Amino acid sequence: MPTVPHHIAIVMDGNGRWAEQRKRPRNMGHKAGVKALKSTVEHSAKAGVKILTVFAFSSENWQRPRQEVTRLMDLFLRALEKEVKALHENGFRICFIGDQTAFAEELQNRMQEAADMTADNKRVTLNVAVNYGGRWDIVQAARRLAVAAQAGQFDPTELSDEVFAAHLATAGQPDPDLLIRTGGEMRISNFLLWQSAYTEFYFTPVLWPDFDAAELDRAIAAYQVRERRFGRTGRQLRAPNVA
Ligand code: IPE
Ligand code: IPE
Ligand code: MG
Repeated sequence: MPTVPHHIAIVMDGNGRWAEQRKRPRNMGHKAGVKALKSTVEHSAKAGVKILTVFAFSSENWQRPRQEVTRLMDLFLRALEKEVKALHENGFRICFIGDQTAFAEELQNRMQEAADMTADNKRVTLNVAVNYGGRWDIVQAARRLAVAAQAGQFDPTELSDEVFAAHLATAGQPDPDLLIRTGGEMRISNFLLWQSAYTEFYFTPVLWPDFDAAELDRAIAAYQVRERRFGRTGRQLRAPNVA
């Protein structure tokens, strides 16, 4: 049996273009995007994925027109109100990664409630990246380590990959095996910079609202024929005991 990626990360891009193609306001695309997210969450759990990390709002997305940002925040709040209970009942642990201090208090409270309510669930971890930036993540980890070192609580000569990763927003979780980006752009847009060092990338022109179970299966199938060498040679992988 080919292995299903343990951790999938998704850059859910293309909502705006999906709406524009239909001569509808961009917000309609974001609404359709929430539906696509719901079905992707369900399907990835059925497929056996254990961690799903979705990029919902980047630290750069504040630069969009104010009305679009407001609508996105409304949609986010409503999706939390509507979906968290069912996710909890279905065994999902919900985590938020990103700088939450920038959000309205009500939204922050709802996020905290969702995280607390689902904290002990074991079936699938759903990381929702909101106001997330890969550089922010690296800088906040470095800042905390520097502060701890200055206070004499951490010996900086002990800094290692593992210690650093334990201070990132994804602390305790394995890195993504597969990163999917919909919408046709072939860039990372400041998503999981540290964590994607050895992730397999899959780009598809499909716009996020059109992404469905069949598209997810296609991405997983593409992943399954990749050879993950991690610096070794292909021959070493096929005959691990040969020097
Ligand atoms: C992704 O879709 C959703 C967010 C960034 C919030 P976009 O809104 O970026 O859609 P396009 O790229 O303009 O089509
Ligand atoms: C990346 O999409 C962020 C999310 C999907 C939330 P963008 O649409 O913001 O990325 P760029 O600006 O095209 O790189
Ligand atoms: Mg976009």
